[in-house]
Amino acid sequence: MTIKIILVGGGGREDALGRLIIQSGSSLVTVMANQNPSLAAISSRVIKIDENNPLSVIPDILNEKPDLVYIGPDGILDTDLADKLTANGVRVASPTRKAFQIESSKAYMRSLMKRYSIPGQVPFYLLDDAYDVETVLDTPGKEFAIKPVGLTGGKGVKVMGDQLPDKKSALTYARSILRKDKKVLLEEKIIGHEFSLQAFTDGIRIIPMPIAQDYKRAYEGDLGPNTGGMGSISDANHSLPFLSEQASSTALKIMKKVMESMEGEGNIFKGVLYGQFMQSRNNIYMIEMNGRFADPEGMNVLSIFKGDISDVLYGIADGNLSSVKDVRFLEKATVLKYIVPKGYGENPLPGKLKIDLAGLPEDISVYYSSVNGSLDEFEMTSSRALAILARGRTIEEASEMVETNLYRVHGEYHVRHDIGSSSLMKKKMYM
Ligand code: GLY
Repeated sequence: MTIKIILVGGGGREDALGRLIIQSGSSLVTVMANQNPSLAAISSRVIKIDENNPLSVIPDILNEKPDLVYIGPDGILDTDLADKLTANGVRVASPTRKAFQIESSKAYMRSLMKRYSIPGQVPFYLLDDAYDVETVLDTPGKEFAIKPVGLTGGKGVKVMGDQLPDKKSALTYARSILRKDKKVLLEEKIIGHEFSLQAFTDGIRIIPMPIAQDYKRAYEGDLGPNTGGMGSISDANHSLPFLSEQASSTALKIMKKVMESMEGEGNIFKGVLYGQFMQSRNNIYMIEMNGRFADPEGMNVLSIFKGDISDVLYGIADGNLSSVKDVRFLEKATVLKYIVPKGYGENPLPGKLKIDLAGLPEDISVYYSSVNGSLDEFEMTSSRALAILARGRTIEEASEMVETNLYRVHGEYHVRHDIGSSSLMKKKMYM
């Protein structure tokens, strides 16, 4: 399909999506706050967005007369941009603000699952009183994940026995959220393997993508502070070696039920849905639901996408995904490692990076994230900078391929070498 698409967002997921849009024959205009060199190179125009006032880009977007708009970042999905563009007759392949509540309000998501008896529910307490928090934390034999109700960028969740060593620190953290938000969510801690399932949906039909896994902790061995995600893996069979055969189909059933419930309530969700699940010893739990591609896992799946992405986005926006016949993914394992500023997750020290792209092997992709500059020389911000992704026969092979290409990156940075390594994969198998 050859159409004009406006892509909102200047990160790595948009870089991967933008390249597929160009491959499908469509033209691309990008709306971003930074100057992502890769997106700038493939866009016919870049429109600057003020992230504190995203609605101010509406006249520019309307002037471009796009056939379709796709909005990537969660912060912008949690505004009226999609609704206002739709009201102006623009085709939008992203959720309305109300439908995006599935991510922006964990209270909405948990209450929807409860009302419709959707399987995979984690026992939870939505509390507005510190005394009640203390009572719940006193439950014998239980530990909890403590979360703000709204968007956290993956960084607001703290788990007892992990980032919260004891009940006292859990209570202190819950109190700090209460002071800020007046509400706090306590979810029972589930132990197991976390995995991400992403899917395209027009609100009724849902097309799953391969399963992936995100590595959130800043340091090797899954230690250190939580980050937005330091890297991610996916396997050639589109599952993961440590997951059960039913993990993917069970997770998909849960996502379908969420879609059906939203549709039943007249709050139809169109766009990309991303469920974070946990496989425990005897169940699959839904930890979080998000209304966008996962970062970084979105790049794993988009890097092996075969088909016409413009067709898919059009099908989502028009509520006609069933007419899209060609959605395939290569049967290759992928490993992505993010290059981030030193100190990322605590006290990031942005600086300049250079990358040597000459002779880049076909199975290596370099996606640009929160950077400003040119393709081979750019400034990092305090966030993730560059994703190096490899496609291989196995996860371990892809991890090694990333390692052998890291010599290309010059400057002061941090990367987790262990993601996808055979030692980490072995450890996961015996967890
Ligand atoms: N993979 C974490 C996130 O996208 O929120």
